[in-house]
Amino acid sequence: MSEILTINNLKVWFHTRRGTFKALNGVNLNLRKGEVLGLAGESGSGKSTLGLSIMALLPSNAIIVRGSKIILKNRDYLKYFELFPEEKIDRKFKIKKNQKIMKHIRDFLAKIRGKEVSMVFQEPMTALNPLLQIGYQITEALLAHSSINLAKRILSRINLTEDDVREILKIVKSSKNVEKDLNEFSKLKKLDGIEDQVLYILNRKDLSTIRKERMIYSLKEKMKNPLTMSYLKKIAENKSIGIYRFLNRIPILKRYLKGVLIKEGYRKAIELLAMLNIPHAEKVVYMYPHELSGGMRQRVSIAIALANNPDIIILDEPTSALDVIVQYQILQLISELKYKLNISFIFISHDLSVLAEVCDRIAIMYGGRIVEIGPIDKIFYESLHPYTKGLLRAIPKISKDIKTIESIPGTVPDMRNPPNGCMFHPRCPYVMDVCRNKVPKSIEYSKDHFVECFLYGE
Ligand SMILES: Nc1ncnc2c1ncn2[C@@H]1O[C@H](COP(=O)(O)OP(=O)(O)OP(=O)(O)O)[C@@H](O)[C@H]1O
Ligand SMILES: [Mg+2]
Repeated sequence: MSEILTINNLKVWFHTRRGTFKALNGVNLNLRKGEVLGLAGESGSGKSTLGLSIMALLPSNAIIVRGSKIILKNRDYLKYFELFPEEKIDRKFKIKKNQKIMKHIRDFLAKIRGKEVSMVFQEPMTALNPLLQIGYQITEALLAHSSINLAKRILSRINLTEDDVREILKIVKSSKNVEKDLNEFSKLKKLDGIEDQVLYILNRKDLSTIRKERMIYSLKEKMKNPLTMSYLKKIAENKSIGIYRFLNRIPILKRYLKGVLIKEGYRKAIELLAMLNIPHAEKVVYMYPHELSGGMRQRVSIAIALANNPDIIILDEPTSALDVIVQYQILQLISELKYKLNISFIFISHDLSVLAEVCDRIAIMYGGRIVEIGPIDKIFYESLHPYTKGLLRAIPKISKDIKTIESIPGTVPDMRNPPNGCMFHPRCPYVMDVCRNKVPKSIEYSKDHFVECFLYGE
């Protein structure tokens, strides 16, 4: 499997008046295409900081230490910035200069964020705007990166001929792989975006076959006014200049065209919500966040994250605020999306039993390092690191008396002054002399199963 994201020696510290918190201390990690990678660890281990680093959404008191690498689709985006070397981050640290660097990184990545990587947070109410309709919020995400696609979708309906419709209906009736054949058809006929719209109709469970055929037939749209058409074409063809820049000179036309695109955004929003199993999506787009349940709101956040077909979605405790049944439905949804869309997920949770439901691999974090990472079965049944073993013992088991849950003795280290050597040594029941002085290197104990611990290796 190919890697879509590689992180090398990532160090992220936070400068505060109470001292420098060393949140990430040399994280090495890779994410493969189409996998769900779980990220577990106690509170304060650095899980959210890692997610925010990938998104370039770190606050301005964060310091990314020189030597850190975040390589997204073969591009190391940190290499364009002059980061501070570790030894210069002392009391005389240049705060202002660092804030500038962090702002540059955020601005630089704004272009990529949402398009290649997007993030879903724990509390959907804070991610959603209470004053805007659901459909509008999804449309905003679409307009930020995908005006081109919205324009293509409209044009695909206008360019659709009667012959095309007949051919589509033939594919729908007789093809063994409708999705693939529709894709090929739309490429051949240059009807970009029509396949999504047809598939949405086909996937609707509330319609009879005849009704579906009629709806596919009525996708065919009449020519809009020729001026609109010519601008839509420009938007569809233009890959670099955003729609707003070249329309700014003509405010009325701009407003009108924006209206056309927003209407299309709502159409696409309905398709997205339906794909996420939201009932009555065509009504939900006109609702406001408070009219939805917590689970539905979290689905909407996922729809926003999905809007621009990102390669990676980071989910930070996405189910922790939900009750168990809804939590389970969201986990199911994520497994479904993984198969349907071939997106890679990083799923952050302090709860290993949640991760067990959806992940292919699990990474265990402690003190801002990945202390163990491997395929899910190996983490659960052949765990190596004493910390991982401790976390596993801390999962409540239904069959057992509640009292038998063991927690890991000791507390998370003060990250202003983390221990020397292995971060876990003060709490480790197997501590040896070497653990107090040297940081263990990562070794591949068995295929694809890595651990940082002196109990293993030579
Ligand atoms: N903005 C900030 N300013 C100062 N310190 C911070 C900031 N954000 C995080 N930290 C510190 O960085 C460390 C890692 O925090 P982080 O939020 O990444 O942990 P986490 O694993 O996500 O924890 P949780 O499970 O509680 O969400 C902690 O010691 C925390 O105090
Ligand atoms: Mg967190």
